[in-house]
Amino acid sequence: MLSLPRSARLTRLRRQLPDVAELAPLLKLSAPAVGRRARLARAADVADLRAIARRRTPTPAFDYVDGAAKREITARRAREVFDSVELLPRILHGVAEPDLSVEIAGAHSALPFGIAPTGFTRFMHSEGEDAGAAAAAAAGIPFTLSTMGTRSIEETAAASGEGDRWFQLYLWRDRDRARDLIDRAAAAGYGALVVTVDTPVAGQRLRDVRNGMTIPPRLTLRTLADASYRPEWWWNFLTTDPLTFASLSDSSGDLPTIVNGMFDPTLSIRDLEWIRSVWPGQLLVKGILTREDTRRALDAGADGLVVSNHGGRQLDRAPVSLQALPEVRAEAGPEVPIILDSGITTGEDIVAALALGADFTLIGRAYLYGLMAGGQEGVRRVIELLAQEVRVAMSLMGAATTADLTPESVRAPWLRG
Ligand code: GLV
Repeated sequence: MLSLPRSARLTRLRRQLPDVAELAPLLKLSAPAVGRRARLARAADVADLRAIARRRTPTPAFDYVDGAAKREITARRAREVFDSVELLPRILHGVAEPDLSVEIAGAHSALPFGIAPTGFTRFMHSEGEDAGAAAAAAAGIPFTLSTMGTRSIEETAAASGEGDRWFQLYLWRDRDRARDLIDRAAAAGYGALVVTVDTPVAGQRLRDVRNGMTIPPRLTLRTLADASYRPEWWWNFLTTDPLTFASLSDSSGDLPTIVNGMFDPTLSIRDLEWIRSVWPGQLLVKGILTREDTRRALDAGADGLVVSNHGGRQLDRAPVSLQALPEVRAEAGPEVPIILDSGITTGEDIVAALALGADFTLIGRAYLYGLMAGGQEGVRRVIELLAQEVRVAMSLMGAATTADLTPESVRAPWLRG
């Protein structure tokens, strides 16, 4: 056995009886905080909110959000790719409070992210789009309403008040219906139209198939069993106005049926040109991943692009948006507004996207995890957490503004040059 030199032997602790007066300030014996606020305050990041969301939301709704297409390869890769980016610290750059604000598509956003369009939102939580629009307005960031939203263009405009709002449109076989929505969005103060072009057909979402997901949910023995341990969701669901697709008519059933009923695989770039001719505001084309599509969208009159693989929910094995971004930026040039989404769950992901050429980002799943975890308060919490993560990362990187984040701010094994 190793014997220590005499001088290195452990000294014996000198003990005394605890002094009650010294102990008192250390003792915080209050009742544990309970309720929505306390639950959300304990969530330290989006992953924590996701865990809460999973406990509180019926499996078909949670999985609809959490899942992706086919074997979910693109969605998984997105996480790996974001994690593979190194953010470079810069010492002694003296940034007291970085400026996180961004001018994007006619909006002034207090933070470098906004809320992505998501369908069926009141299925995730009864507060749905109202919660998202109100929380976004309160934070000073844009909110995007989906064509497949569960509140109308006018209802969401009312919930967003003075906030910036965008409307997402699918390229649609019914031009009269599309025209009606475009005119209503313009009248209700939506500043940008986000036209999604990656959905000639619905992606194959295997979790939804396995869960037998339908809209509205069917009350089967399985859903009733679910209701017994998620009473709040079911109580909200049964005591609020029925879940309907505010911008679609009489749609119900399983997802591929609803979605494929709207989409038209034969639509083409001409249809995008038509939208350009009837929409007076900013036109953002969403679903761009290649150099060729960048050029086509810009030639058709897009004002800006959303680099997106639809959260990995359409073509599985499609490129990860962050890896497609440098190519899209190179083709579009420095002036075209570029927004990135698909897979952002941390502030560091947002910083990486800004560094690699995005002007702005959108959160879809992350927003919905917050919503499912706690309605509007949950959305407020997710915005707060991501903003704080961006702020800290920018400070540590010596970036005073988002414009200070450049390709030189990051390193990644997959980046050329
Ligand atoms: C709708 O856009 C979806 O991805 O489910």
